[in-house]
Amino acid sequence: MLLKLDNVTKRFGGLVAVDHVTLEIEPGQFVGIAGPNGSGKTTLFNCISGVYFPEEGQIVFDDIDITRMPPYRRAPLGIGRTFQIPRPFSSATVRENVAVGAMFGTMSGQISVDESLKLADQTIELVGLQEHRDKAAGSLTPVEKKLTEVARALAMKPKLLLMDEAMAGMHPNDIDEMVAFIKRIAKQEKIAIVAMVEHIMRALVNMAEKVIVLHQGAKLVDAPTQEALADPRVIEVYLGRPAET
Ligand SMILES: Nc1ncnc2c1ncn2[C@@H]1O[C@H](COP(=O)(O)OP(=O)(O)OP(=O)(O)O)[C@@H](O)[C@H]1O
Ligand SMILES: [Mg+2]
Repeated sequence: MLLKLDNVTKRFGGLVAVDHVTLEIEPGQFVGIAGPNGSGKTTLFNCISGVYFPEEGQIVFDDIDITRMPPYRRAPLGIGRTFQIPRPFSSATVRENVAVGAMFGTMSGQISVDESLKLADQTIELVGLQEHRDKAAGSLTPVEKKLTEVARALAMKPKLLLMDEAMAGMHPNDIDEMVAFIKRIAKQEKIAIVAMVEHIMRALVNMAEKVIVLHQGAKLVDAPTQEALADPRVIEVYLGRPAET
């Protein structure tokens, strides 16, 4: 098992943002995380990447207890992520931003600046940003910034990639393309992907092997994609009414 969460709970004051979540992700597995606004998706990602430490429970990555490990130590172990709101170094170029990923990922300490830039170039080509390589990241469109995020995360050569709404704001056709692309890369590089899927029905069906649905911080469903989408509780959470009506 690549990632194991055991009864992870994260509170903000009286609010239980993540409520006793237990889950497992296998190496190379493609998992969708869904749930309405405020259901705890980003907070769960933040616990896995180390932005927050949970008050309860345990997180094990690659047989290492990372529950209270700082984020900068998790990245070299192979945990990469994209952010819901991209935050590139705006005045640095796309190439430099992506190279930073290479330097602080699983190859941190083993890769020279030149090698990082070379890897950045390959990754930039992979996501199709080569035209924008030498532009300041701050000058990109929102979609290009998202792609830069994806490239930066891939350049870390992660074992696990957490994607927080990497496709929000994209055209449906672009989403399909992006989904196909990510799936291909993940297979090729044996990266497990946990992707937040906001356009639930569309992207999930194409993408995930299994889907985990959160509701008010707790895990509601954890099942193969088709099964999860047909689950009456999921339909109720999304549509706000009992499934039989
Ligand atoms: N830093 C924080 N301080 C206080 N409350 C927070 C904090 N971060 C998140 N919350 C609260 O925790 C709950 C879960 O929020 P979270 O952002 O994880 O949900 P989400 O599923 O990512 O939502 P969205 O789909 O809107 O991105 C919400 O009630 C939110 O208001
Ligand atoms: Mg969120």
